Amino acid sequence: MAIEFHALRVSAISRETRDAVAVAFDLPPNLRDSFKYKPGQYLTLRLFIDGKDVRRSYSLCSAPTRDGDPTIAVKQVDGGLASTYINTKLKVGDTIDVMPPLGNFAVDLKPYHAKHYVLIGAGSGITPLMSILLGVLDSEPDSRVTLLYGNRDKDSIIFNSRLQELAQRQPQRFKLVSILSSPGDDWQGLRGRIEKDNCGDMVRSCISAPDIANCWYYLCGPSGMMVAAQAALRDLGVPDDRVFREYFTTPLGGAGSADVSAAVDEEDVDPATNKSGFEKSFVTVRLYGIEHELQVAPGETILDVAVREEVDPPFACQIGACCTCRAKLLEGKVEMDEREALTDEEIEEGFILTCQSHPRSARLVVDYDQ
Ligand SMILES: Cc1cc2nc3c(=O)[nH]c(=O)nc-3n(C[C@H](O)[C@H](O)[C@H](O)COP(=O)(O)OP(=O)(O)OC[C@H]3O[C@@H](n4cnc5c(N)ncnc54)[C@H](O)[C@@H]3O)c2cc1C
Ligand code: FES
Repeated sequence: MAIEFHALRVSAISRETRDAVAVAFDLPPNLRDSFKYKPGQYLTLRLFIDGKDVRRSYSLCSAPTRDGDPTIAVKQVDGGLASTYINTKLKVGDTIDVMPPLGNFAVDLKPYHAKHYVLIGAGSGITPLMSILLGVLDSEPDSRVTLLYGNRDKDSIIFNSRLQELAQRQPQRFKLVSILSSPGDDWQGLRGRIEKDNCGDMVRSCISAPDIANCWYYLCGPSGMMVAAQAALRDLGVPDDRVFREYFTTPLGGAGSADVSAAVDEEDVDPATNKSGFEKSFVTVRLYGIEHELQVAPGETILDVAVREEVDPPFACQIGACCTCRAKLLEGKVEMDEREALTDEEIEEGFILTCQSHPRSARLVVDYDQ
């Protein structure tokens, strides 16, 4: 079944920095199974702000290895609708529609793992990394973690005191390297933004050369930081399949476009243009066990039309960064503008991001329930 929103009560709000809050949710016993999560996954919130349905994803910063309510941390973005509302108006006791956890930027914790996780993040990108850090420290006794964390100044470091405390308590298992772009004169640490050259230097200074390619890298931060870190890791000889990324904004330097097809009738596709020769494609959408017949014009995405026709499909970012709009293509062919949030295995199995998918055959069947 496709995932649905559930009304959750805000159980606590704590201010982490001047412009970031952590928000915890009360989970009633009947939702505990649906809301089980892996470190690194995110929740999708539906807020109603000034009469508008506003959906945004927020990574969990809590860890499933600890008791306590699932918690997100939200940094206020200048002029941002949801992040400003959450930072300035949301109150303990309010009820919000929340979708169960999703996302492929997730760690499968195993007590027998002996891995070195290298987390590279900046600003609010710390949220999924915090969950991964806590999860690994709690449940993989032979694994260790290095965190390279970029911020503007000391006051803007989300979870600063908790991170310092963890690094002091377990120095053999957790190393914290902070870099600040606008620190005061009293700052003794690294200065600057995370860029390609200094990212490579930071990795080399924390990890011995023969081990660099054997670590597991998790990146989350602004797109520029992600591109820089990925390039630095490639230069250091780290294979791409050891690097995992979570984008909060447009996935610049992401995985790019992809074609997906399933049981496609080749007569539906013009081989010259690789597109349907028809003016519109006929798309059957299955959601919550019900079939809807849609007509999608060139230039439109399947999600655009599903929303317009009030099918009520799941979605959030609409930029290919989360995977809330994921569905399985059972028949036909699509071209995705951006496929960042899907794994190679999901693409091979026929999963698509409907917010990025343009029909390339005359007839398609798309199933949100799988
Ligand atoms: C999978 C996923 C997980 C996420 N996890 C977190 C999280 O843990 N914590 C968190 O704070 N945010 C997270 N985000 C980002 C979050 O979903 C929103 O995009 C963000 O809060 C801005 O929403 P808004 O409504 O306030 O801004 P909007 O009203 O949507 O945008 C206002 C302006 O801000 C720009 N903008 C949008 N997002 C950002 C951003 N993140 N940084 C800088 N500029 C931006 C927009 O381009 C626009 O110009 C995540 C996003 C994704 C896709
Ligand atoms: S809604 Fe986020 S990828 Fe489609």
